[in-house]
Amino acid sequence: MADTPDIKKSKETPEEEKLFVSLRASSWNEFEGQERVKKALTVALTAAKKRKEVLEHILLYGPPGLGKTTLAHILSKEMGVNIRITSGPAIERSGDLASILTNLEPGDVLFIDEIHRLNKVVEETLYPAMEDFALDIVIGKGPSARTLRLDLPKFTIIGATTRIGLMSAPLRDRFGLIHRLNFYPAQDLENILKKAAGKLRITLEEKARTELSKRARGTPRIALKLLKRARDFAQVKGKEHVDTLVLEEAFSLLEIDTMGLDESDRRLLKSIIEKHGGGPVGIETMAATISEDIGTIEEVIEPYLLQIGLLKRTPRGREATEKAYEHFGIPKKGESKQEKLL
Ligand SMILES: Nc1ncnc2c1ncn2[C@@H]1O[C@H](COP(=O)(O)OP(=O)(O)O)[C@@H](O)[C@H]1O
Ligand SMILES: [Mg+2]
Repeated sequence: MADTPDIKKSKETPEEEKLFVSLRASSWNEFEGQERVKKALTVALTAAKKRKEVLEHILLYGPPGLGKTTLAHILSKEMGVNIRITSGPAIERSGDLASILTNLEPGDVLFIDEIHRLNKVVEETLYPAMEDFALDIVIGKGPSARTLRLDLPKFTIIGATTRIGLMSAPLRDRFGLIHRLNFYPAQDLENILKKAAGKLRITLEEKARTELSKRARGTPRIALKLLKRARDFAQVKGKEHVDTLVLEEAFSLLEIDTMGLDESDRRLLKSIIEKHGGGPVGIETMAATISEDIGTIEEVIEPYLLQIGLLKRTPRGREATEKAYEHFGIPKKGESKQEKLL
């Protein structure tokens, strides 16, 4: 299992990380799709600029690789302010947060990735900072303890999370704008791939581009990763460009099927079908059956399977759909009997 080349879960290599930074959309024009979110954010941005105020706090959520970090960069660039980047688990104590906040310049954006992982104490320090741009610092201990209020410059928090369900309501409520990023239709991914191929000087045949965008799980990050892998593959084969032949070989090596599912997607669906009679099955049981952690299932594997209708969530657990049975060519129990009767 360890050497399954899981394209959606594997951490980027430093080389890939560099590639993503270099490919990152740096303006609205380069940011494909997500029109509804883009529009809402542009309105907020324009209004803030007109009023010469700071941008409202913004929370972006959705599966990994859909452009949350990219949007935070674009927003700060458009506002003409600095962006400071940190993450929930990186801020361990209130003191860490205080030092970040007191070092902000007026109008700056503080991007907090994985904001659902902030600890309670830090989170409570953040409330007055978000609401009143102030820090309440406790000095001393016991009966002689006093609270000191420290004013901060006005700033904007942009939070990103893959698990909005794990965020506390008081934290969520402090964001003026909350937007979900959705999976991208294949056409958007095609546009992203076209631009990326141009920037990377990869000749990507049109048919190959269409195929790639269909198998990228609606996710720009995966589309770009696949493009890079396919390019490497073409080079190894001594080919000048990426065509459907190269792509097929790359997909087969990466064990990506016609719907863009990889090994872990198939393992999950097949375990529901083969070991749990198609479901419903609880997430804990499923996690134990396929030895995968619940977080990864909920945040990385499931969202796309739900979106394309291979999986269904019911109050009693997850179920594999008809479409999932069809995809694997497995007859649904009871159906084969009926067919015989007919
Ligand atoms: N809408 C988009 N248009 C163009 N490129 C995108 C878009 N969304 C994401 N990307 C690209 O995909 C990669 C991953 O996006 P990122 O912002 O890191 O996702 P997230 O923070 O949601 O995990 C980046 O290289 C980015 O340039
Ligand atoms: Mg990110």
